[in-house]
Amino acid sequence: MTETTFPKGFLWGGATAANQYEGAYNEDGKGLSVQDIMPNGIQTPPTEEPTPDNLKLIGIDFYHRYKEDIKLFAEMGFKTYRTSIAWSRIFPNGDETEPNEAGLAFYDAVFDECLKYGIEPLITLSHYETPLHLARTYNGWANRDLIDFYERYVTTVFNRYKDKVKYWLTFNEINSVLHAPFMSGGINTPKEDLTEQDLYQAVHHELVASALATKIGHEINPDFQIGCMVLAMPAYPMTPNPEDVLSARHFENSNYLFSDIHVRGEYPGYAKRLFKEKGIEIEFAEGDAELLKENTVDFISFSYYMSTAIAANPEEYDSGVGNLLGGVNNPYLESSEWGWQIDPVGLRIVLNDFWDRYQKPLFIVENGLGAKDVLVEGADGEMTVEDDYRIDYLEKHLQQVGEAIKDGVELMGYTTWGCIDLVSASTAELSKRYGFIYVDRNDDGSGTLNRYKKKSFNWYKEVISTNGESLYK
Ligand code: BG6
Repeated sequence: MTETTFPKGFLWGGATAANQYEGAYNEDGKGLSVQDIMPNGIQTPPTEEPTPDNLKLIGIDFYHRYKEDIKLFAEMGFKTYRTSIAWSRIFPNGDETEPNEAGLAFYDAVFDECLKYGIEPLITLSHYETPLHLARTYNGWANRDLIDFYERYVTTVFNRYKDKVKYWLTFNEINSVLHAPFMSGGINTPKEDLTEQDLYQAVHHELVASALATKIGHEINPDFQIGCMVLAMPAYPMTPNPEDVLSARHFENSNYLFSDIHVRGEYPGYAKRLFKEKGIEIEFAEGDAELLKENTVDFISFSYYMSTAIAANPEEYDSGVGNLLGGVNNPYLESSEWGWQIDPVGLRIVLNDFWDRYQKPLFIVENGLGAKDVLVEGADGEMTVEDDYRIDYLEKHLQQVGEAIKDGVELMGYTTWGCIDLVSASTAELSKRYGFIYVDRNDDGSGTLNRYKKKSFNWYKEVISTNGESLYK
């Protein structure tokens, strides 16, 4: 295969999120975020105060090492770099009227460092890091007041970085609020006490806030490209039984709901029916419907880690332990060490489905393999990780991306998740590593924080320098 598959200007890069790698959780005026009291990710309830076992408090210390890290990204040839702004660095409690200048200055420095190497920042405005005060005092996105606080925050950062950042994402994996309401939506009420009415009302608030951010961003800089971000997971019917097929369709709709509203600007018919059947009544404020309709996104971004299988009678099958959004085990697929089912072809399917549905540019902003790595001495005497399993995973997924591009899908770019090792969102471990760069920090908090290039570092460097051609060698 010699013809070029990946388009010219394709945005190759990597992705991270502030709360999972910056550390410096209480430096330079930063307030606490929900993550600072989640030492075990979503596995146990949050703690009262930050506790020393919470690896995110120090993360991988990007806050103090960003120059070294961005230099390594540049060495791999990144065209783009996805990270997030920690809301609580800018508005420590979330409801102040004036921002924290030290927080703003930090991101100026980070973006300048990226631009120095010609790396385009791709910035998530809210990535699982709602200020803790907003969670505790207002119950997070369950409360409509959050829209005003978010508006102030995004207006501040859009104005501040309007000449440095062009690509923005409004909410990370917005559909995850239904599954992890505290982490994703800062909703303090325990999940078991939340009704579907509460959750879908919170979703509505986020969707309105996202449309508002899109409006404000385009007013501040018409060149901004503002996208939504959803957790994508194709759902295969477990059998050709029409009941399984219909159940799979319903499952997919529960995710499409989010992109449908972001892209088409209104609630789809299947959602209205579902709400009616469940007795859910979404409260719209005056102007919400127009705001949603008039401020749709410029592109659709998504994370992709796994597919799932859906059965009308799931109790008849093995449940998929690692399936983030539910479903049953697919016997045709292998799983990662964390039970996430590995499905490169599913990525081609997702890309085609989104493209056929919306005809809007797509951006894969997360994909990767969380695995345990072993640091060894390489042939050149430098410490490294022989992560052929990661190369294999990424290569197979990227080949399917190439197939989707050949199918006619318009794709802006691809950023691997956790391009440098960082703290896991679901389990809060460091041993669940995704990076091309190994960070010497262990689950017990020990380690030098030194960085080492894994074997995949040079592999990805070649993928980028050949604009994907090396995938076909
Ligand atoms: C996505 C999130 O769900 O998956 C990231 O946007 C997260 O924040 C990533 O880190 C991988 O999940 P985990 O649980 O392995 O860190």
